[in-house]
Amino acid sequence: MTTPLVDLSVHHAPKGLSDRTAWGFVKALRFFADTFFAKRYGHRAIVLETVAAVPGMVGATLNHLKALRRMKDDNGWIRTLMDEAENERMHLMTFIEISHPTLFERFVVIAVQWVFYLFFFGLYLISPKTAHRVVGYFEEEAVVSYTHYLAEIDEGRSPNVAAPEIAKRYWNLPADATLRDVVLVVRADEAHHRDVNHGFANELCGAAPIAIAPCPAHVELQPNWKAAA
Ligand SMILES: [Fe+2]
Ligand SMILES: [Fe+2]
Repeated sequence: MTTPLVDLSVHHAPKGLSDRTAWGFVKALRFFADTFFAKRYGHRAIVLETVAAVPGMVGATLNHLKALRRMKDDNGWIRTLMDEAENERMHLMTFIEISHPTLFERFVVIAVQWVFYLFFFGLYLISPKTAHRVVGYFEEEAVVSYTHYLAEIDEGRSPNVAAPEIAKRYWNLPADATLRDVVLVVRADEAHHRDVNHGFANELCGAAPIAIAPCPAHVELQPNWKAAA
């Protein structure tokens, strides 16, 4: 299994009010996340992955409803967005094996889910382009955060523990895979989501398509996938 290389320099330069709003919103959230978590990367990953798994499902729901209303094909957007939500949920299922959220963090997750789900649903109704741009910027930040996490591991501040079983099965990692291998593959997932969402935002405003970072290989989840592995 080879983890796709991640281009760390990808950044969509904001153009117009919609992009600037998305960019400002994400930077404000980054400030709060940096203040709250500082260098507790395991905790940060858990809490933020509970949020990251929301937009894909909202986008899938609203595109599904649109396809029904207009009686038109979705051009593959629904499946792509559902896959994104599922992939983000697997990030959460992986990191919950590495760190354990505090009681306060669990409370924050519940409170934030209410607010963020409703906010993102409303935003997607008003401006799907801005909504996808927000996710594109979120994912740019996720790539940065997981790069910091890798440095923490490489410089010995976070122990490079064995990869959780669930991660080895999902990404088909070798038996001796470590947390470092997991963070590499998760970061490659985030780079893929980053480009997919910036690409969708571009498509919605008629801008040029962009190159999409490849998605690391993972198993397709079936109802019994854990037992069958
Ligand atoms: Fe993620
Ligand atoms: Fe993500």
